[in-house]
Amino acid sequence: KKTAILISGRGSNMGALISAAMDPAFPAEISLVISNRPDAKGLERAKEFGIATAVVDHTEYGGDRQAFERSVDEVLKAAKIDLVALAGFMRILSPYLVNAWAGRMINIHPALLPSFKGLATHERALEEGVKLHGATVHFVSAEMDDGPIITQGAVPVLDQDTPDSLAARVLDVEHKIYPKALQLVASGKAKIKGGTKVATGDAD
Ligand code: GRF
Repeated sequence: KKTAILISGRGSNMGALISAAMDPAFPAEISLVISNRPDAKGLERAKEFGIATAVVDHTEYGGDRQAFERSVDEVLKAAKIDLVALAGFMRILSPYLVNAWAGRMINIHPALLPSFKGLATHERALEEGVKLHGATVHFVSAEMDDGPIITQGAVPVLDQDTPDSLAARVLDVEHKIYPKALQLVASGKAKIKGGTKVATGDAD
């Protein structure tokens, strides 16, 4: 499955997906990296891997979210993309693009959804005193951080943790669960159970 990765920053999750997809048996090939930020570090990283890159700069659309998303969609279609993986992509997508890619767009969120939707998840986890935290890969739905869950990874929260130490531990698990999720989706194993928000397929 031809896969595009959408980034806004350093792209460490993008790197993990690119590495996993180098295995010829992996059911997805990373064909394109798109950034909404021209200065995203991940763009250089993608080029080092020889992956095609594109920039669709959201600031050039005068706040017209749909115009921005139409451009992204055109780039995806021109590259004959089958699946989209959001990885550190910091734009909220409107129903326009979300519906156009329903069941074919996934995202990684640095928390155990449905806990801690939104931003600053590590600070909030520490504030709440949770003992387990982690990351979730889910299908993207119109509601933010709410789509069917594909994979999750949990890490312990330690007494001396700071947001940075916790974020680092979560990032390690992100790099493990994202390739697994893309493999499940690209191989068709991850399915949304009809009429529910449950994704199945992570048999083992
Ligand atoms: C990570 O915490 C990820 O969970 C979130 O964005 C952060 C940066 O990801 N989506 P990356 O290093 O750019 O992949």
